[in-house]
Amino acid sequence: MKGRFITFEGVEGSGKSTNIAWAADYLRSAGIEVLQTHEPGRTKIGEELRTVLLRTRDERLMPMTELFLMFASRMQLLEEVIIPALIRGTWVLCDRYVDSSIAYQGGGRALGVERVKTLIRAMGDRYAEPDLTVLLDIPPIVIPDRLADRPLDRFESEETSFFERIRQTYLELAAEEPRIEVIDATLPLKSIQEQIAVLLDVLVNESSNE
Ligand code: TYD
Repeated sequence: MKGRFITFEGVEGSGKSTNIAWAADYLRSAGIEVLQTHEPGRTKIGEELRTVLLRTRDERLMPMTELFLMFASRMQLLEEVIIPALIRGTWVLCDRYVDSSIAYQGGGRALGVERVKTLIRAMGDRYAEPDLTVLLDIPPIVIPDRLADRPLDRFESEETSFFERIRQTYLELAAEEPRIEVIDATLPLKSIQEQIAVLLDVLVNESSNE
């Protein structure tokens, strides 16, 4: 793979979209070709899966069904979009990836981290390992204030304890995985972006030395 694969993680309201858009501009101004994408969804099949995953009337969607649909959407995006882009040499910035499944389904839905890791292993050679994962960490208590003023989806409607389990799982994962960098997302935007820039510069310098 010639391109670099960078993922952004965090609970709702952690500022992923703002910071990904900023990171994409930052890399583009360094002359890098960037593709910005988002899970679940973004492919035709993935968007249909996303509708099933997010609509509130499906309160009966079973946690294991939710887990498999997340992976189904992911495989479609990987094969159709992410892997071809990385092969071309384009850098891919993805809003959520496998760590969301570990944190939300493994931790939040209490399916267990190991079960989700088994699925990641089952992806075999179709799994693309991120070169860098930026985890934007906020305490879940601040989530309601940060959500846009619109009807809540099936995840956003969950209680704070659900997001506490997610945050905990993310932080435990970050402690094990050197590719995951935790940033305190309660800091001012400028400070968050300075920290992201330092992380991106490492990858940019590495790739220009290849
Ligand atoms: P979205 O509206 O895209 O939210 P966000 O902007 O926070 O990414 O909704 C995606 C939801 O799906 C979000 O609540 C997190 C959840 N999710 C999982 O539970 N597991 C996963 O593997 C992924 C990719 C997302």
